[in-house]
Amino acid sequence: MITNTEIEKRGNQFPDKIVDFKRENDKIYFTTNNGVILEITILRDSMLRLRYATEYVFEPDFSYAISSDVSLGYNELSVADQSQEYIITTNKIKVHVNKGDLKVEITDLEGQVLLGDELGFHWEENFEFGGNVVKMSKISHSGESYYGMGDKASHTNLKGKRVNNWVTDTYAYGKDQEPLYKAIPFYIGLKDGISYGVFFDNSFSSYFDFASERRNVTSFWADGGEMNYYFFYGPKMAQVVEAYTDLTGVPELPPLWALGFHQSKWSYYPERQVKKIASTFRKLRIPCDAIYLDIDYMDGFRCFTWNKKHFPDPKRMVEELESDGFKVVTMIDPGIKIDRDYWVYRQAMEHGYFCRRADGPHFKGRVWPGDCKFPDFTNPKVREWWAGLYKEMIADMGVRGVWNDMNEPAIMEVPSKTANLDVRHDFDGHPCSHRKAHNVYGMQMVRATYEGIKKFTFPLRPFVLTRAAYSGTQRYSATWTGDNVATWEHLWLANVQMQRMCISGYSFVGSDIGGFAEQPNGELFARWIQLAIFHPFCRVHSSGDHGDQEPWSFGEEITGIVRKFIELRYQLLPYLYTMFHKYVKSGVPMLQSLVFYDQEDSQTHFRTDEFLFGEQLLVCPIQEPNAQGRRMYFPRGNWYNYWNDEKLEGGVERWVPADIDSIPLYVREGAMIPKYPVQQYVGEKEIGELYLDVYYKEGTEISLVYEDQQDGYDYKKGRYSLRRFRLKGKDNALIIQQFKDGNYITPYDRFILKLHGLPFTVAAVHLDNEPVDPQTVKLNGDNTIEVGKDFTELHLIGT
Ligand code: GLC
Repeated sequence: MITNTEIEKRGNQFPDKIVDFKRENDKIYFTTNNGVILEITILRDSMLRLRYATEYVFEPDFSYAISSDVSLGYNELSVADQSQEYIITTNKIKVHVNKGDLKVEITDLEGQVLLGDELGFHWEENFEFGGNVVKMSKISHSGESYYGMGDKASHTNLKGKRVNNWVTDTYAYGKDQEPLYKAIPFYIGLKDGISYGVFFDNSFSSYFDFASERRNVTSFWADGGEMNYYFFYGPKMAQVVEAYTDLTGVPELPPLWALGFHQSKWSYYPERQVKKIASTFRKLRIPCDAIYLDIDYMDGFRCFTWNKKHFPDPKRMVEELESDGFKVVTMIDPGIKIDRDYWVYRQAMEHGYFCRRADGPHFKGRVWPGDCKFPDFTNPKVREWWAGLYKEMIADMGVRGVWNDMNEPAIMEVPSKTANLDVRHDFDGHPCSHRKAHNVYGMQMVRATYEGIKKFTFPLRPFVLTRAAYSGTQRYSATWTGDNVATWEHLWLANVQMQRMCISGYSFVGSDIGGFAEQPNGELFARWIQLAIFHPFCRVHSSGDHGDQEPWSFGEEITGIVRKFIELRYQLLPYLYTMFHKYVKSGVPMLQSLVFYDQEDSQTHFRTDEFLFGEQLLVCPIQEPNAQGRRMYFPRGNWYNYWNDEKLEGGVERWVPADIDSIPLYVREGAMIPKYPVQQYVGEKEIGELYLDVYYKEGTEISLVYEDQQDGYDYKKGRYSLRRFRLKGKDNALIIQQFKDGNYITPYDRFILKLHGLPFTVAAVHLDNEPVDPQTVKLNGDNTIEVGKDFTELHLIGT
């Protein structure tokens, strides 16, 4: 063994004093006496990138996380050379770099410290693998809170916790178990009402310690690679998240059916069983858009094959299901069975597409089919080949979506649960070991899948689902939180996991409703459905060993409750689709934790349960058996009880009733919530009218409604309809103005406005400044008004 006693003794190494300073446009370089270079790039006036090299050498600059669509550019930048420090000033922040030790402190323009180095950058040489363990420590203040970090089964506020990012197959994980299936090394800090973010873009196993080891220190480090992090200044959490999301990207709009209800199980087979499930949905009139085929549809778990005994004619089956509104989603795993008669295996062998160990042999691991080899998805040629493999399934058979599982990659019967660390990867021309590629392996697999599905589904939109993810995977795929358990604690976890993912830039996310392992009772299943209809991705999935988990598996009462809530999801589709549009357009998370919604209210900083679905519906799940209600916190502002229109003032915690057939659901005053009629699947009916639930407010509120053809790409050519409603309520009047953008003609002609909480009786109605006979607008006794969809201003005048 080679040792270097001198360096071993030195342990952590630190930058020395700055001896050189250089500026190249938006990049500034500081070089220290002992060979450290700090490169600061001013990406925007509130977004920086900081990279550190040791021994004067940066690694080649390459990242899978960063989106090619990110919009960058800064307005103004100056550097002052002072006796003790350099000060970089942008339009929003100041960066102080200490000349003696390279420590960095970032402040706002008033001098308020946003983030300051404790030890700052330091490193340890890694004798075993070469390179460094790179470390950063920051001062943590009392009262500072931490959020984000993707998928962590922990309290929304991570203060006092240490987490690890190493994507891992964690069957039946527990609360606070680390690490899980995803690596999203991005956190949001909140101090004195001001928010900032840090994204440590390093794909090695990384750790974040949020004032856990030492109360006044927050640190992050990785087993290799570079200290390379982005800093985002808020001051609003929304600005931090939107900037991170812009940097790492957003998906395209999914087909609207992907936002419907999905039913899955490990596994529905043979064909007869799949059909029976589908027809039961229709018979019981429970809406459903997609049905999933888990691994048993394959021939001996060989990807891209079909078990002909169970599925003699998949194309016909898919067509028949499709004619009844069901889209079929199939699973594809990364492990390719070692079988020289299997065409996928042979092709990969011929082209050298499988990963190899350090000394040359192929990497082998056991998964469902037995011994497998694994394509190196970090090689662009492999991705192209993999994308092409989907042709038959998608273009010829009509499968509408694909589900990539086990892509951590998960390996059975080995303690590490994954590939050996010496496995080699191309890393898009930057060859490396699995230590560096592990966290992006699943991401690159699903990227290849996405490219294939997109190509072969065209002119329709692709739908792809992944289990493993690194920052940026949201560009390609929806995701779910893996193998959870049918317990009340997991219902709590599902709620915090979804919120956390959404404020970590990854909104298209859902849990296995009801729990994957073990079986829920009817009450737990109903409560989970009530929560999960408010999750962007809404799918029941369970392991086959624990009994049935269809909406009708728990008796008539529960079936009725489940139907009622799935119907509500279908009614809310235009609201949900508008949320998705906002996410795609400007990175607005589809779910917002209360702290995100109102960071200035310190009551929100440690709340876990309540969240905003979009920006106008407040949801709080029931998470205990036998509950008839619960206590919940209402954020500041006024809220209407969705179920009975009772109006409540926020800023307080109160008891709210919610028997088994209900969930606490509140609407922000002033909101206009768009709804469609209940459909059994997306596109079942031509939408004859748009319902708008209007919640009176004294004051002004904006609501949006985004619509398009619900699939396809015409919306990118301007064929969309974006309605912006400006509601203004006064003592005895309500004015609604409509501003319209886009040239998609919605199929309906009229709106049905349902007025909630109106403090006056309508005596007169003016449409676009003309008085109209209340009869012609069908002013009904139940506060419902029908008007043509093209009005510019609707004026309701009270007595
Ligand atoms: C993994 C997945 C699960 C799937 C099973 C069989 O456990 O997480 O969703 O059903 O594999 O494919």
